Amino acid sequence: MLTAPELRALKGQRPSVWITAYDVVQAQVAEEAKVDVILVGDSLGMTTMGYDSTIPVTLNDMIHHATMVRRGAPHTMMIVDFPFLTYPDVPTALRNAGRIMQETLANGVKLEGGHEIIDVVDALIREKIPVIGHLGLTPQSIHTMGGYKVQAKTSASIERLIRDAKELSDHGVSAIVLEGIPDRVAAFVTQHIEAPTIGIGAGSQVDGQVLVFHDCLGLSPTLPKFARPFAHIRDAMIQGLQNYRHAVMEKSFPSDNETYHIPDSEWNKFLEDYGQ
Ligand code: KIV
Repeated sequence: MLTAPELRALKGQRPSVWITAYDVVQAQVAEEAKVDVILVGDSLGMTTMGYDSTIPVTLNDMIHHATMVRRGAPHTMMIVDFPFLTYPDVPTALRNAGRIMQETLANGVKLEGGHEIIDVVDALIREKIPVIGHLGLTPQSIHTMGGYKVQAKTSASIERLIRDAKELSDHGVSAIVLEGIPDRVAAFVTQHIEAPTIGIGAGSQVDGQVLVFHDCLGLSPTLPKFARPFAHIRDAMIQGLQNYRHAVMEKSFPSDNETYHIPDSEWNKFLEDYGQ
């Protein structure tokens, strides 16, 4: 299993490969595919719970799903998202981090924000909890951002992003997720900080990539511009269920091979005993 110091040391060596997961089966396939890091993201709200944002996801939701992921992938580094409004101040963040780390056996936590959460980042790191930052398009700020829009497109906002990234890196985060920003900005940040950058919708010049499980494997009904489906699982699932439905209707399922039998002698004895 990759450790937090090893993750940070990968910068400049090779890209790290991250995927989200929300349940046992997803975690098992992620571990079998040898991804470096599984992120139990609060994208859970959209991929699995049917919400249209991450805002309704609770700490208990995250813990419930992260424990499943841990059971499915006991040997892969697992990072768990702090959901909306669970790290507003240091005491609350520490209490909630304690629950995440102890109840899910996570290897670290991720939280959205820069300078404004630096006291929380410091407190977590002081308590020996590996922290992953998240800058750029931060979905928990959907209402103040005015939608899922590409960020850091003006000189002032690029400067702010770089300042935040440097501060997080200097304070010891193990990596920073950069979401929904122009490629040149992501490349610049990557070159100017020590922590590895993990991109999602941030171009190729970063230190690693993360994708949402459902986008990566073609389970999502629609895809964001930056995602590539590396398989077409949704189509395969629909086709499989249609094949099943057809086989049941025409009574070709189950076949003789898929059926339990008893010897004629036992069956005839039963019929005799039963008076048939
Ligand atoms: O919640 C999530 O899955 C995330 C990734 C998109 C980085 O934060």
